[in-house]
Formats: sequence, structure tokens, C-alpha cells
Amino acid sequence: MENIKKLAQLLAESKDTLVLTGAGVSTESGIPDFRSPDTGLWSQMDPMELLSRSALSRNPANFWTRSEPIFREMSTAQPNSCHYALARLEEKGLIRGIVTQNIDSLHQRAGSKCVLEVHGHLRTAHCPSCGAETHMPPLLDRVATGDSPPRCSCGVVFRPDVVLFGDPLPDAFQRAWQWARVCDLLLVVGSSLEVAPVCWLVPAASKLAIINMGETQCDDLAEVLIRGKAGEILTKLVKEAEELLQARP
Ligand code: APR
Repeated sequence: MENIKKLAQLLAESKDTLVLTGAGVSTESGIPDFRSPDTGLWSQMDPMELLSRSALSRNPANFWTRSEPIFREMSTAQPNSCHYALARLEEKGLIRGIVTQNIDSLHQRAGSKCVLEVHGHLRTAHCPSCGAETHMPPLLDRVATGDSPPRCSCGVVFRPDVVLFGDPLPDAFQRAWQWARVCDLLLVVGSSLEVAPVCWLVPAASKLAIINMGETQCDDLAEVLIRGKAGEILTKLVKEAEELLQARP
């Protein structure tokens, strides 16, 4: 609890706090993360084999058929207490916004307004040839009923608007980089910080705090390091931070 109070103090003192989230903020919504031992998605499959640019071009039917249940699980999950707590911190002016590696849109569904999706999202897919855009849920239904790979009316296979292994990062990453360099506190929640270039945001920030169940390669850089479940910790953090705000003259 001491560390939560210390982090609340840092939040209250910070003029510009940025939050970086990973899959660990969505596990309490029932979405497995990637690298947790035994439960992480990558313990059941090889990401490079499935969710990569080359996998989609090499075997589009296999790509869509195998990713459909993963995409559906992410698209139908509900926000958890962690997402709501982060939305509350934004509402109270205690954080500028969230850079997320997650593609599940749960931050926005919990009420967060300022969200940079540096690995894309699952709301839409587009045709790489004619540029037509379509919503993902009906596309996933087509795949689930055997229409795989789903094709645009022009005949070309649709591409989900997520960053696949081998893709360049979207413009959102450039903005995240600019924000990380000027923020005076970066709070990382639920990420192993294993994946570049997103993990490069960490050394760019002047002060770091981490809330994560597992160890990360940046733990020794953190001014505050809290091990545990993000939902429970962030709910306590919001309470502590709001009390500090109320105590202000
Ligand atoms: N509370 C706090 N931490 C948690 C929780 C939880 N409820 N559940 C899991 N974690 C922690 C795990 O201990 C782990 O360290 O969250 C971290 C999630 O790390 P990863 O599974 O590596 O996910 P992430 O960091 O988001 O991966 C980054 O890798 O495969 C790519 O594109 C994929 O966006 C993803 C990127």
C-alpha cells in the first residue's frame, strides 16, 4: 500500500503523466495476454507463424480461420476495473492519455478519450487494393461460417486494421514517442515491455512507474514498482489520488 500512496503522490505532483498499457490490463476481462507462462497466447502458438504479414500473404485462409476466434474473443470482451480506473484518472486530469499496445478497444469502451493505439485495433478491416473499409464483427461472422479468407467485392482479401508482425507502426507511434519524450511521468501497466519499438518509449520518459504482475526488463529504472493485479491496484490508486486532490487547498 505504501507504494500505491507514493505513486498517487507522483501522479498528483506530475504536470504531464502518460500511461502505457499492454495485454496485462485486459486479462481481467478474460483476454489472455501473450507472454504469461502457461496462459499467454504465445504458449499455444507461434506469433510469427500466425499473426504476421507474411502469414497473411502466404496463406490468407489459414490466417483468417485461425485468428477469427482470437479476434472475436478480444472484440466481445468487456472493460474491467483497470480500464475504468484509467478512464477516471483521465477524467480527473491526472493523466494526459494512454498509449496502448492492445487492439481490443476496451480503454475507449471504459470512457478513456485520449488513446493512442500503436498496434492498431479490431474495429475495422480494409481492402489493400481498392481501400474499401468494413466493420470486423460481420467479417468475423463470414469467416466463422466458412467464408475464409473474406474477400472484398473487388476480389482481394480483406486485411484487419491491426499491426501484424513485419508491419510498420502507425502514425500513432510517432505521437506516442513525442508524448513520452515530454511527459514527466510514464506509468506502465500490464506490459512485459518485450516488444520494440514500443518498449523504447520507456527510456524516453524522465520518470517511470510500473504496475505489473511479472518482471520486466525496465523494473530497475522504475521510481515506483508495484507487483500485482492491475485492476485492484489501479482502483486503490484512484482512491488515493482523489484524496490527495481533495486535500489540496
Ligand atoms: N495485472 C497486472 N499485470 C498483469 C496482469 C494483471 N491482471 N495480467 C498479466 N499481467 C502482466 C504479465 O505478467 C506480463 O508481464 O502483463 C504482462 C503482459 O505482457 P505480454 O503478454 O508480453 O503483453 P504485451 O506487453 O502487451 O505484449 C506487447 O507483443 O505479441 C505482441 O502485439 C503483441 O501488443 C503485443 C505486444
